[in-house]
Amino acid sequence: MPSEKEKFYITTPIYYVNAEPHIGHTYTTVAADVLARYHRLIGDNTFFATGTDEHGAKISQKAKIESKKPKEFTDEIATKFQMAWDEMNISNNRFIRTTEEAHKKAVQNALRYMYDKGDIYLDKYEGYYCTGCEQFKNEKDLVEGKCPDHQVKPEWVSEETYVFKMSKYAKTLEEKIKKDELKIYPESRKNEILSFYKNENLKDISFSRKNVKWGIELPWDKAHTAYVWSDAFLNYLTILDWDGSGKKCPEMFPPEMQLMSKDILRVHATIWPAMLLSLDLPLQKVMFVHGFFLVDGQKMSKSIGNVIAPKELVKRYGVDATRYLLMSATTFGRDGDIGWKKFDEKYTADLANGVGNLVARTSNLLEKNEIKIDLKSGEDKKIIKDFYDKMDKCKLNEAVQVIWDKFRAMDEYLSEKAPWKMDNIDEKKEVLIKVAQNILNSAQLLQIIMPETAEKIIKQFSAKQIKKGKALFPRLEK
Ligand code: MSP
Repeated sequence: MPSEKEKFYITTPIYYVNAEPHIGHTYTTVAADVLARYHRLIGDNTFFATGTDEHGAKISQKAKIESKKPKEFTDEIATKFQMAWDEMNISNNRFIRTTEEAHKKAVQNALRYMYDKGDIYLDKYEGYYCTGCEQFKNEKDLVEGKCPDHQVKPEWVSEETYVFKMSKYAKTLEEKIKKDELKIYPESRKNEILSFYKNENLKDISFSRKNVKWGIELPWDKAHTAYVWSDAFLNYLTILDWDGSGKKCPEMFPPEMQLMSKDILRVHATIWPAMLLSLDLPLQKVMFVHGFFLVDGQKMSKSIGNVIAPKELVKRYGVDATRYLLMSATTFGRDGDIGWKKFDEKYTADLANGVGNLVARTSNLLEKNEIKIDLKSGEDKKIIKDFYDKMDKCKLNEAVQVIWDKFRAMDEYLSEKAPWKMDNIDEKKEVLIKVAQNILNSAQLLQIIMPETAEKIIKQFSAKQIKKGKALFPRLEK
């Protein structure tokens, strides 16, 4: 645990507004929320950033399909993201949209700084462009001529463009990643990026589009709009009210932790830090790459029809249970398979029959036997240490497990001692107090994962006469 107040700036990717939020986005955002709540709990000066990525061809094409103006369309979807995060009890300090005036202005200033420095120059560029990725693709990235992530043939683009001199920063970045000055977790992902640096010469990259109108105009040449990723990356700065001046570093910058999945690691480990070097700003400290969710073994996709929206989960399980199910579903950092059947089973085993039943049994017995107690929390140093250890290593599902191991142990202890059969009231009291104390201690840690449930338990178990409350996790309907 840090002795002084440390800074902790954490970010999620800003999500594309071409469609409503799904559980993939929700997973990253809840994980960031859990980490942010943890760092606030241990006293760090914490800032948690998330938002939406709204410019570019991908979005304007989708708006057109929906017969809407881009602004009208992005307003609608961005609001859905904000509502989803409000509903999920996400504690972000701010929500940024790349269509905000202040962001646009700052992006123009930043690109102007890089241009004046000679890091951006006019050239001609051609290549295969995947609008789904909003990236140029090398031929060898394609599988049977298609982008493997989007299953479409990229279009051949050949146009005049402003180019960012990324090659200039390749060596420095490779060194910094090697030396862990810019950390990438898990280790396998770091190796993947290092072999990319080794095998591909980092090339200069197209940074503007002439044929994409839905974007931020380059201040020195209004015929071009900024490449959507250059616009998007700068959100990590503009959300801190940065005005786009190179060298001018906001107080909370750089991020201590950037969360994302593997789909966007490469750009985050090349373009983004190269831009920071060009802007004379410090690099992000850690990038943590979590796995991808598959739904019943398949990639989530509209065409397969297996996309799960967070509001569907909330409707069936409630907010806190959804947070729990997402955080405990897979090993953080690895791909994992999820699905309704698995969620139902886990809800029933760990929540309804697990902690829900334990809390109900214990409080019921305390009330029935009129046992008065006065519990104080924070007594169990061991569980705190185990939990903090896991959180510090970003082992989120294992941190959750530490709490559930305790609940399970108490459940077994209660069944074994069977206080309801005991005649001696002191013995009965001893057993029940021990269980109640452990429930209260665990609930203190549970706050960062299931804030509302934890608050209910803490309130219930801090009373002098503990009473049986309403069921925390009602049984599921078929
Ligand atoms: N707009 C860019 C990011 C710009 S950041 C400067 C983008 N947006 S996105 O909407 O496609 O979001 C990608 C991210 O959403 C992933 O990196 C991951 O965090 C999350 N996920 C999307 N699908 C997911 C799964 N199926 N499983 C887990 N996370 C997923 O890329």
